Amino acid sequence: MRFVKSLLVSLILAGGAAPVLAGYTPDFDGGVDVKLAIQAAIEAAASAGGLVPEVPAAERTVWVSLEKGDVAALDGALFKSAPLAQNKRLAVYGFDASELGALADGMHRARRKAPGFVAHDTLEAALEDLQAPPAVPARAYTVDQAPRVRELLARVNEASLVSVITSLSSYKNRYYRGATGVDSSKWLQKLWGKYAEGRPDISVAAFKHAAFPQESVILTMRGTVEPDKVIVIGGHLDSIAGGGDNPAPGADDNASGVAVTNEVIKALVEGGYRPAKTIKFMAFAAEEAGLRGSGDVAAAFQKEGVKVEGMLNLDMTNYKGSEKDMYFVADNTSAAQNAFLGRLIDTYLGYTWGSLNCGYGCSDHASWTKKGYPASLPFESTLEQHNPFIHKAVDTLAQTGGGAAHSVKFARLGVAYAVELAK
Ligand code: BES
Ligand code: ZN
Repeated sequence: MRFVKSLLVSLILAGGAAPVLAGYTPDFDGGVDVKLAIQAAIEAAASAGGLVPEVPAAERTVWVSLEKGDVAALDGALFKSAPLAQNKRLAVYGFDASELGALADGMHRARRKAPGFVAHDTLEAALEDLQAPPAVPARAYTVDQAPRVRELLARVNEASLVSVITSLSSYKNRYYRGATGVDSSKWLQKLWGKYAEGRPDISVAAFKHAAFPQESVILTMRGTVEPDKVIVIGGHLDSIAGGGDNPAPGADDNASGVAVTNEVIKALVEGGYRPAKTIKFMAFAAEEAGLRGSGDVAAAFQKEGVKVEGMLNLDMTNYKGSEKDMYFVADNTSAAQNAFLGRLIDTYLGYTWGSLNCGYGCSDHASWTKKGYPASLPFESTLEQHNPFIHKAVDTLAQTGGGAAHSVKFARLGVAYAVELAK
């Protein structure tokens, strides 16, 4: 019986072209979300029998896109055959899931990227990386919600940022395939579930991924006027420091981004704010494994035709390594939305800001940009002066003095962004 159930779960997880468990239907109509109901039933069966498969079948082959310059710098033994496809800059290879660790290690040693490649469940999805992203339609950004913005800004609080960073970084790691990675996602689902109490317009859902057990988390605040228009705010939940068993507190990378996301939710909820457009707050699984969580979510949204009007990625917010308060990543982001964020800072916050180039899709904003959605990443320092402790056992809150003063700035920007875009 155990075996049969486990086989069933594996088969469903393997899922083929349209994996049932990876699917996600945005719940705009207020009715029962059938896919999520099926997920819940299977999950209940699985937890009763402990049947979450260790290595889902879909994970056996992973398709990876990476820069040709990186391929040239890596040990040739990592690549058993010629690329399956390529363009001027990128090449696509198939890997056995068990080889990904060695590839990530090689990238880290040779290129100081970790892992610096984008991984996909299907070849089709990897081939999309070779195409230019769809153009983002031009739009007007306006800044005219001063009273509401100022009132909500006053609610941003350093102590609750510290509390979330402390809780998340107390897991040994939040590795996307490990038990504590799964536990940390469940913990966040519970924390965010509290915001939905007494608020029928707020719901929390786990977004399941076919190829790994860590779930992304999505809190939806339904819009009162144009609920089909969506603003996304969030950052990655997972952490990594080499192998899956290693301690990886990931306090700055990226408990600090999840804490900022939580702080924006908290300020809006406590202030009794009801957005005109829908806001979806997200914590992505498996960013460190090649943007895989956000890749699945953005692909599902595009497939469902969800109108995402803006995406704000929060990845590393609590280490002030440079002179200016924040730096907008200029590549793989929307120049128009970046300029809007600069205007919000000038209007409401008075912080100093600059820009930088990652040179590659260095975080979850790239998954949204690839699908034609305007995305931005306000970053905590310049690239040259970035936090040297990330992806190590020493990425702790103590490294940033035990406080969250730098993160406060990003939470305040998040509040202004939410109110001025979801109006
Ligand atoms: N938070 C980092 C990205 C980062 C680090 C940006 C330092 C700027 C300075 C992110 O979690 C990460 O490690 N990204 C990977 C790439 C990704 C495709 C897995 C990286 O930068 O190697
Ligand atoms: Zn990160």
